[in-house]
Order: sequence, then structure tokens, then C-alpha cells
Amino acid sequence: MWFEEELKLSKAQIPTAVCLSTVGNDNHPNARFVSYKEIIEDSFIITGPLNSRKGTEIEHNNKVALTFWWTETERQVRIQGVATKLSEERADKYFNERDRDSQAVSSVCEQGKEVDNLEQLQKKVLEKASDEIKISRPANWGGFSIKPIRMEFMEFKQSRFHHRKLYEIEKDVWNLKQIQP
Ligand SMILES: Cc1cc2nc3c(=O)[nH]c(=O)nc-3n(C[C@H](O)[C@H](O)[C@H](O)COP(=O)(O)O)c2cc1C
Repeated sequence: MWFEEELKLSKAQIPTAVCLSTVGNDNHPNARFVSYKEIIEDSFIITGPLNSRKGTEIEHNNKVALTFWWTETERQVRIQGVATKLSEERADKYFNERDRDSQAVSSVCEQGKEVDNLEQLQKKVLEKASDEIKISRPANWGGFSIKPIRMEFMEFKQSRFHHRKLYEIEKDVWNLKQIQP
């Protein structure tokens, strides 16, 4: 509901941006923005290459966090949860929904690998995008479904007397606490 309210007012080019935090393989927290897709079966969906840094970190430790900051409605949502790989069918669905340029980048590039020749790589992407052949999902492209265990909804107040509601799940029951600003 909060997301829908933000979407109505947002002037952002990518209002779906959400910060995904993972635990690095060296135990350093690691964070980057990704695009939030939707909620399915009470879980948050994100997509991307599975053999990227985020993918290998999640494979190593599936405890992750998502953090939204919505500028128009001045609300922050913090989610901690457990990530599970999307099925092949779901991954196909999200890949097929991507525009052709994004599909070409995902098909040609190995996200996070060092670039030997940037111009050559870009040329390959352009060639891929401009031919007529259907771009199929690379085997290493997919996504994660993140089942929340803790969620905090904060309404930012100029007075700094923010309103914070913390939900935590215990034995399938969500408990709600109002917490101090
Ligand atoms: C607004 C925004 C949205 C993004 N959406 C995605 C996304 O949905 N999936 C993705 O893999 N990377 C996305 N990226 C790129 C990531 O921030 C990041 O550079 C990439 O996933 C590599 O991260 P990693 O090396 O930790 O795996 C997005 C970046 C921005 C700024």
C-alpha cells in the first residue's frame, strides 16, 4: 500500500529501486540497489545474474536485507529475510519481460567480471540487441524470492519524532511493536 502511494507521487525514473544488502563471503556487509519486482506468496522478488557477487554471496549466506526509502511519502521500509532462488519458469517470465537492450546486456556480459576490451564488449551487446533473433535467458540469470522475518515501517517526521512499527515473525505469527524514534 505504501509502495502504491509512493508510485502515484513519484517523479523518479526508477521508483522500484531498493537497496539489497548481503553478507559478503569475507563477512563484510555488501549493499547495492536492485529493482524490486513484486510480492509473490508473501515474498519480495528481485532478479539478476546468479553468478554475480550478490548471487554468490546469497548462495553462501541466504540471510539478506532490503531497504526502501520513498522520497515523496517520506517513508522507509526495512526488511530482513531469507532468499530462495526463483524457479526456472519464474526466471523465464521475468527475463522475457525485460526490454531487448537489457536482455542483450544480460546475454553478453558477465556481471562483475573484469573488462578486457570495453569497446568490443559494447559492440557485441549492440549486435545482439539489433539482430532479429529471440534472446533466450542465460542459464546464470534468475532471481530470488525473499521471505521476510522482520519488517520495519518508518514514517519520517521533520521533528525527528519518527513513527516506527516493527513486525517480527515468531512461529508463523507476526508480532507488532511500536518502537522509539
Ligand atoms: C536503480 C538501480 C537498479 C538496479 N537494478 C538491478 C537489478 O534489478 N538487478 C541487478 O542485477 N542489478 C541491478 N542494478 C545494478 C546493481 O546495483 C549492481 O551494480 C549489480 O547488480 C552488481 O552487483 P553485485 O556485484 O553485488 O552482484 C541496479 C542498479 C541501480 C542503480
